[in-house]
Amino acid sequence: SYTLEQYRPRFHFTPKAHWMNDPNGLVYSHGTYHLFYQYYPDSTVWGPMHWGHAVSKDMLHWKPRPIALKPDSLGYIFSGSAVIDKQNTSGFGANAMIAIFTYHDPVKEKQGAIDTQTQGIAYSLDKGETWTKYKHNPVIKNPGITDFRDPKVFWNDETNSWQMALVAKDHVEFYESANLKDWKKLSDFRFPDDPPLGVWECPDLFKMRVGDTDEEKWVLIVSHGGNSAPNGGSGTRYFVGDYNGKTFTTDQKQSQWIDYGTDNYAGVTYNNVPNNERLFIGWMSNWEYAQTTPTTTWRSAMTLPRSLSLIKSNNRYILKSQLLDTFKSIIKPVEEGSISGHLPYDFTYEKLQESFISFHAEIKDSLQIQFSNSKGEHYTISYHKDSGVLSADRSQSGLVDFNPNYKNFSFQTIPVGVRDSLSFKIVLDASSIELFINDGVYALTNQIFPTEPYTAFQINSDVTISNFEIKQVENVFDL
Ligand code: FRU
Repeated sequence: SYTLEQYRPRFHFTPKAHWMNDPNGLVYSHGTYHLFYQYYPDSTVWGPMHWGHAVSKDMLHWKPRPIALKPDSLGYIFSGSAVIDKQNTSGFGANAMIAIFTYHDPVKEKQGAIDTQTQGIAYSLDKGETWTKYKHNPVIKNPGITDFRDPKVFWNDETNSWQMALVAKDHVEFYESANLKDWKKLSDFRFPDDPPLGVWECPDLFKMRVGDTDEEKWVLIVSHGGNSAPNGGSGTRYFVGDYNGKTFTTDQKQSQWIDYGTDNYAGVTYNNVPNNERLFIGWMSNWEYAQTTPTTTWRSAMTLPRSLSLIKSNNRYILKSQLLDTFKSIIKPVEEGSISGHLPYDFTYEKLQESFISFHAEIKDSLQIQFSNSKGEHYTISYHKDSGVLSADRSQSGLVDFNPNYKNFSFQTIPVGVRDSLSFKIVLDASSIELFINDGVYALTNQIFPTEPYTAFQINSDVTISNFEIKQVENVFDL
């Protein structure tokens, strides 16, 4: 069972013990959502990468499974994806689950070689429980560059073939295959960033319908290391454009970001989900300080799963991130008696850090929302109508000195524009706050480490609040 400690989330996925980073191999099959993840089972910091594994029926209650993929003579097992081979194109067996991942060769790296990353595949005939690596790995060789990784493979029913988005240092490459073993390069996608962003990682490509219209667009997701994201640290952006089965193009002039907080990285979406749902999970941390966060036996959580949708507003495509419908099944109304004070502007609630809060705010000039504990540690969300900027400040949220980068990125902003009203959905767990504004048009995800849980909630009185709700979120792990 899980070790219960102060910062262990109650309803976000965490490994029972040791180090985790990116979500990998997100695939749905026969009623089960599989979550594989970058895992180092010998330490609470990054090391020789394995694929850990967990399964769920609702993406909220997760059951840990044995480690799926371990390093071998070709290297560590870096990030990648998984598919269900319904037509047995690979010959590994009908409905085989096939993982496509990056091998990172530490031996070559030590020798000073740069061509250390190649792509490999492995298959499972028992729902991801046991795996066999393909004997002719690697299936894509290294072309002579350092960063060449994170294959996202999907079945493209327009081309009737397997297609792959892969990152190569500062661009995305697309590949195609009939059998997942023999791959042919199709094209490159580059974007004129000035200055260039950090290394390109963890791509994803998928088609989406625009709102309720018949228009369809393709969305390309890329994560960036270094302090590329709008608020510093590592972050994930998206491009909306067209993909003709070979090349991706976009009219977009600027980067758009999936999340304006510091703790949503390397996120990608599920393959094979029914009804064209686009379900996303990110790693709820940031390379700038991930290995030093103040947890003990385990390190890092995933974001709550999010359902992505595409809308068009003022001639701009926007990718929205929303909580899943199934999230409703783990929240329950809070008993009247447990909240005191003047609702909803100012109250205390013992289980604030296991709660879901939603409301609508009519704003005169500004808005301030604060979560705090009896030690005065606090997390503040502010909005100023004249500047149109919403900000989140965690600089006094609790432990902040464990890494200077955490402190440096403690003040975060979202340019939401001048608005008379905003809607908020806020999810608080033991060491995170996820904020969704206007139905997920903007998301802001942060880790926080208060030395004692927050129990007080305040909204300044300059605003009119409606539809206020606070709900308690179930503890989904057997701690
Ligand atoms: C992203 C990443 C990937 C890589 C993996 C290694 O966080 O750097 O590019 O495959 O982590 O663990």
